[in-house]
Amino acid sequence: MTEIYSQEPCSEPHVGPNTLKRIAAAWPRRATIRSDMTTFMQPAAPEAGLTDYPVHLIPFAEHPRFLDASEEARRLVNTLAWQAYNARVIAAEEYVANPTFEKLKHGVFPGIDRYEAKEAVQQSHIDEVWHTYMHMTAMQRTKEAHNLTAQPEYFHPVTNQRLFRLMDQYSEEWERDLLFLIWTVVGELHINNFLELLARDETIQPMHSLVARLHARDEAAHGPIVAEVMKDIFVHFNKEQRTLFARRLPDAIIALGAEDYEMWAQILNFVGVAGAEEMIADTRRLPGTDSMLTDFSTVERLVRDLGIEDQIDYDFTGLRTSRA
Ligand SMILES: [Fe+2]
Ligand SMILES: [Fe+2]
Repeated sequence: MTEIYSQEPCSEPHVGPNTLKRIAAAWPRRATIRSDMTTFMQPAAPEAGLTDYPVHLIPFAEHPRFLDASEEARRLVNTLAWQAYNARVIAAEEYVANPTFEKLKHGVFPGIDRYEAKEAVQQSHIDEVWHTYMHMTAMQRTKEAHNLTAQPEYFHPVTNQRLFRLMDQYSEEWERDLLFLIWTVVGELHINNFLELLARDETIQPMHSLVARLHARDEAAHGPIVAEVMKDIFVHFNKEQRTLFARRLPDAIIALGAEDYEMWAQILNFVGVAGAEEMIADTRRLPGTDSMLTDFSTVERLVRDLGIEDQIDYDFTGLRTSRA
């Protein structure tokens, strides 16, 4: 046995042995599918003077060639950025998070024995399916509001693509299942950083910040849930599983923080903005533009709770350039 078994529960006030019980008990009041469905489903007309997506989150927004584009083209890029963001969230939920929640429910991973864990996983899965519905509704409303007759066929976001590429290197089912779990755990712990950015943004349509705010509220519970569930699972892992978990966790962190340049190129080319390749190449040359967000302190806390910080090849302080 390793030191993992004697690990004290995390001393953070929101995490502890009764965390799952408490979070699961609050679900009927907290879940946005229960409490906010009516608010969300009421269509709201777009407000003049507000954008669909925060301009400052478009990495090439200040590039001279982008500023040279017509206002109409820049506005369409902004609208498609919002659409692509929703598509990205849906793809992450549908192709990574939900399959993992199913695996968790079907006993693919050891340690999900206590009822509170099963209940919290089931509730989270329901939330995720609802999130897909919220984001597809948001996309449809945007399409109608702007009379979008054509849109790009959004492909898998960079986060999913990196997972699928990595899976090609592994042939054992347990290895591939574990990669899904790693991606989901990091995603669930991290997703709120970006949602909160949108939720607080006053330059975008109120409906758009509302979607992010509702989603973020559910995810504020999912983070502690997956952290607790992961602790239950990890103590049951054998040596190979622990080794793979520690080895591949940094890949998930880097993938989930990555700026999605393929998506940006797709949008710029779809709109027909001149100099798309140049804009993206110039932006990528600037320091720090590989990542959208670099705060992975919630993942760092889990790593510490699991007692594996010395096995994780990732610098959570952001001072050292991590492996690509
Ligand atoms: Fe979600
Ligand atoms: Fe979630």
